[in-house]
Amino acid sequence: MTDVPSITLNDGNSIPQLGFGVWRLEEEDAPEVIGAAISAGYRHIDTAQGYDNEAGVGEAIAEADIARDQLFITSKLRNGHQGFEKAQQSLNESLERLQLDYLNLFLIHWPAPQHDRYVETWKALIEAQKAGKVRSIGVSNFLPEHIDRIIAETGVTPAVNQVELHPAYQQRDIRDYHREKGIKLECYSPLGGKESKLLDDETITEIADRYDRSPAQIITRWHLQQGLIVIPKSSKPERARENFRVWDFELTDEDMAKIDGLDRPDGKTLPEPNENNDLF
Ligand SMILES: NC(=O)c1ccc[n+]([C@@H]2O[C@H](COP(=O)([O-])OP(=O)(O)OC[C@H]3O[C@@H](n4cnc5c(N)ncnc54)[C@H](OP(=O)(O)O)[C@@H]3O)[C@@H](O)[C@H]2O)c1
Repeated sequence: MTDVPSITLNDGNSIPQLGFGVWRLEEEDAPEVIGAAISAGYRHIDTAQGYDNEAGVGEAIAEADIARDQLFITSKLRNGHQGFEKAQQSLNESLERLQLDYLNLFLIHWPAPQHDRYVETWKALIEAQKAGKVRSIGVSNFLPEHIDRIIAETGVTPAVNQVELHPAYQQRDIRDYHREKGIKLECYSPLGGKESKLLDDETITEIADRYDRSPAQIITRWHLQQGLIVIPKSSKPERARENFRVWDFELTDEDMAKIDGLDRPDGKTLPEPNENNDLF
């Protein structure tokens, strides 16, 4: 079994660099697909309250014969559950659905600035971490302005910011900011998301042919070689296994640079952080 490299977070905890994303995985399919992913070697699962599949994830974890301390489980707070008390209560409900005593990582899914509740919500996550219900706390889809504000008002820096990041949307402009603050970037929609055109991009497929690898493996390797945390999703066990087989080859600097050249101003697929205040 391959040991996935770990990234050390600013709170001292470690996160496996490659995880398994489960957005758009039906609750009823989750046990089988996640079970196959765990058998393939994934130890890091990324779910959210808004994916409506936490109970299925919990079933897969319960069925897998893996010690709890070998697994890294992330969930995210639904936008509608922001607020100090609501956030604490809904974390308890997530733990119940997942059949867990603690989460490894809990994220505020979106800042939802229209509702202006993300600071009090962050305070709830800080309390939950102190109470041992979650080992690490972080944010998702936060812009530097949102992060600056929660740090200024609480003194606590998030361990990660989970953001859209893939070859067509590389987020070069925020990487220095996160490095300076000690916040790790976790890359969502790493393959370009649903109905991805990236997997058919001719630069990617040309490289894939040369290495005798799939486009998804090439893109995942591109993330890993930059030290980024990456969480590709598939609802097909065979693809989950394929996306995990990325440890026995390395992209050259020249091929990394070719993929770097695919960054596009219009490459983002999900809404801008300030624009999604209610979905999820
Ligand atoms: N924080 C946030 O706001 C946020 C937003 C989006 C995503 N996420 C997280 O990030 C994870 C990954 O992002 P994502 O689900 O948007 O997209 P993704 O991982 O970039 O791409 C998934 C798509 O690629 C297909 N795929 C996967 N492996 C493949 C392979 N080897 N060959 C061909 N096609 C393949 C999948 O189809 P099949 O399923 O049919 O295989 C699916 O349509 C999510 O599951 C979720 O955990 C977080």
